[in-house]
Formats: sequence, C-alpha cells, structure tokens
Amino acid sequence: MGADDGDGGDSGAVILVGAVAGSSLEHAARASAKATAHISAGGRRIAACYRPAAAYNPDVSDLEPKPASASQVTLVQLMEITDANIAGLVHGGVIMKLVDTAAGIAAFKHAGGLCVTVSMDEMSFLEPVHVGDTVTVEASVNDVGRTSLEVGVRVESEDIRTGERTHTSSAYLVFVALDEEGRPRSVPPVLAETEEELRRQHEAKIRRETRIAHREAIEELRRRV
Ligand SMILES: CC(C)(COP(=O)(O)OP(=O)(O)OC[C@H]1O[C@@H](n2cnc3c(N)ncnc32)[C@H](O)[C@@H]1OP(=O)(O)O)[C@@H](O)C(=O)NCCC(=O)NCCS
Repeated sequence: MGADDGDGGDSGAVILVGAVAGSSLEHAARASAKATAHISAGGRRIAACYRPAAAYNPDVSDLEPKPASASQVTLVQLMEITDANIAGLVHGGVIMKLVDTAAGIAAFKHAGGLCVTVSMDEMSFLEPVHVGDTVTVEASVNDVGRTSLEVGVRVESEDIRTGERTHTSSAYLVFVALDEEGRPRSVPPVLAETEEELRRQHEAKIRRETRIAHREAIEELRRRV
C-alpha cells in the first residue's frame, strides 16, 4: 500500500460514525462481561465493546490465515462547523481520529479481539478538507508481524453538491493485539488474494523492517550515551 495511492481497500462494510458496528453501550456491556478494559458512561464504568481474546498465545504459523479483504472498513462522516480550525478548514486532528478509528476496527476484525494503536508512522495531508464535505475513510490490514498488524488507510473528501472526490490523506498505523491480561498476543497471517493486496503486503514488510531497524538504531545509540 503506497501512501501516495492511498490503500485502505476499495469496498467493505460502510459504517456511519456514531453508530459503529451497531453495538450500543448496553449491548457491549452484556457481550463482554469478561473484558479487561472499561469505559465510562453516565458515571458508570462498563465493559468496552470487544470480545475477550484467546487465552493462549499460539505461534503465528498455527493460526489460520485470514483474507486481507475481510478486514476492510469504510467510515463516512459529514464535516461540520465544530470540525473546523481557525482557518475555516477541517482540523487535521479530526481526520487523524477518524483514521485511527477506522484502522482500529480493521485491526480488530483481523485479530478477532482488542488491538491498541502503537504507532502512526506515516500520515499525509495532501489537500484541505472543507466544512460541508463528507470524508470517507477506508482501512484494511496490509500485513502482520507476530503480535502486530499494519493497517493502511486512505481518506477522500467529497463535495456533496458536485460529487467531486479528492484524495486528501493516506496513513499507515501499527496496532498490537492484546490478550485478556493486556499482553501482546499472536494474530493470524494475512492472505493477500489480489495483485494490489500482494503489493501492499510486500510494501508493509519493507516498512516493518525499516521500523525495527530504526528502533534498534535509536536504542543502541541511547545505550552508548
Ligand atoms: C502495545 C504494547 C502493549 C506493546 O508492548 P511492548 O512491550 O512493546 O511489546 P513487545 O515488545 O512484545 O512488542 C509487541 C509488538 O509491537 C511491536 N512494536 C512495539 N513498539 C512498536 C513501535 N513503536 N512501532 C511499531 N511496532 C512496535 C513489536 O515489533 C512487536 O511486534 P511483533 O510481535 O509483530 O513482532 C505497549 O507498547 C502499550 O501498551 N502501548 C500503549 C498502547 C496504547 O495505549 N495506545 C493508545 C490507545 S489505543
């Protein structure tokens, strides 16, 4: 998945933000009584909406691969006055939150349980987004390591009066799947089924190697000073 071409996948479930996955807080509380993370609502602390993860941590090679397409997510949201910055354009942080949300859902779908954001290491803002436009955020899992997943996201704005669409941002995020004790747990390999998915997977492997080399070089430098 190249940052310039976007790469969040082409289709998949359309989820209107605010009604994510159709799960109300009450439903979430019932469905995940064993979940370890909690969110606060109306003064009560209730279980967050994720299913408990597997209690064991198998080797990745033991896990059944999942198609990249199965993780595809699309969020659509209208940009309103409250999303604007002092220039009257949509605030970059609003887009970043949508990107993190869409990517988090894609990671969850692939991992089959709670995933947390570890890094957002590429995030471009190519064109401004205007109040009154809709923003469509497409995300899908590009590849996995052992416990981590790289998700690629493509953002487009649409002038709903004319239907003109503009590619405004691309991003790559890394998530880690956690077990019930909050420890990293193994995730299934990604099955890339199309040329494009194979390209995204290949590029994700290059980025993963780069990230690891970068982290190790910094750690080595800090050990020496
Ligand atoms: C996610 C977390 C549990 C990982 O802990 P950790 O001690 O680094 O765990 P590990 O060293 O076992 O690394 C786990 C995986 O994360 C990857 N990872 C760790 N730091 C990373 C970084 N900065 N960037 C990319 N990947 C990273 C590792 O490469 C490893 O991947 P792999 O298993 O696929 O090889 C910990 O960093 C954490 O709790 N972070 C906070 C997450 C959070 O609160 N996010 C915001 C809200 S969702």
